Amino acid sequence: MKTRVTEIFGIEYPIVQGGLAYLAYAELAAAVSNAGGLGQITAATLRTPEKLRDEIRKVRTLTNKPFAVNFAIARHDGQYKELLEIIIEEKVPAISITGANPQPVFKRIKGENIRTLVLVAGVRQAKKAEQLGADAVMVVGQEGGGHLGRDDIGTIVLTPRVVDSVSIPVLASGGIGDGRGLLAALALGAEGIEMGTRFIATKECIHANEKYKQAILHGKETDTVIIKRTLGAPGRALKSGYTLDIIERELEGATYEDLQNLISGKANCKYIYDGDESAGFGWAGQIIGLIDNIPTVQELFNEMILTADKGLSRIENIIGERAHN
Ligand SMILES: Cc1cc2nc3c(=O)[nH]c(=O)nc-3n(C[C@H](O)[C@H](O)[C@H](O)COP(=O)(O)O)c2cc1C
Repeated sequence: MKTRVTEIFGIEYPIVQGGLAYLAYAELAAAVSNAGGLGQITAATLRTPEKLRDEIRKVRTLTNKPFAVNFAIARHDGQYKELLEIIIEEKVPAISITGANPQPVFKRIKGENIRTLVLVAGVRQAKKAEQLGADAVMVVGQEGGGHLGRDDIGTIVLTPRVVDSVSIPVLASGGIGDGRGLLAALALGAEGIEMGTRFIATKECIHANEKYKQAILHGKETDTVIIKRTLGAPGRALKSGYTLDIIERELEGATYEDLQNLISGKANCKYIYDGDESAGFGWAGQIIGLIDNIPTVQELFNEMILTADKGLSRIENIIGERAHN
């Protein structure tokens, strides 16, 4: 497969593993890169410069392929700045940025040989990323797991809208988990995809508790909810007594301070590491309705490429037949 994304990032398949808070460590990132995609580790959940440096070096012991480091930056959080220095020192090939205005990041890495992906949820942000010099944008639709845009636009509309608005390559994200999704994204004009939820249900996502993986495996497309909407930071998580309680409190007018503990990283870890569903939550997208196995990343890639290929033949037959009639 050849697109501008495979060329810019030096990868075989235009498949990027999303930054996955508390889950994207060396084992998963290296497995994705070894399978021909772009694996990522997540800077925000590694927290200290030393831990980030160790994790980068660990990735390099597991793969010699390109990989990226994800930066989910918050508006008033300067912590990422010292982590960014490590990226430069360690000569990490690529980074992805999300959360707030990426301008300071671009300023700091200017002149460095670092490829950049910006995760956006709309046309305006995509144009801004292009203007700042991003190599590519990943556009996440409302089907996706984790934090989303505020406008509830699905991937099937958002992807071509962004493709039409920028000239840098676009990767579609949100609700993609198999070869059909990959093919559909390419049909919409994307030059690659990003997947988050699908990678949690893989053998190499070793940090996810078995309960979390089983919930993804058995959950239907209707088994996710959006929390934190009233806080202006909507995110899609598994439906549970815990997340329904958060939503109820939001509807009753709870403030950020009221909800702080319930939506914290600590509460996230209580469920995804310890499997304690009464004490925490797990992010997941609507694609859980289509996930029914826990393969290795390599098996997942093989299946996706095969399915995309079959899907393409099917479409060629349909369009070919129409052309003949
Ligand atoms: C468990 C989980 C954690 C996430 N954490 C991050 C993160 O730290 N940084 C980030 O850029 N995106 C994060 N995301 C969003 C993903 O990178 C990606 O955009 C999203 O998962 C795409 O939708 P999908 O889940 O339908 O594939 C997270 C998603 C999930 C499911």
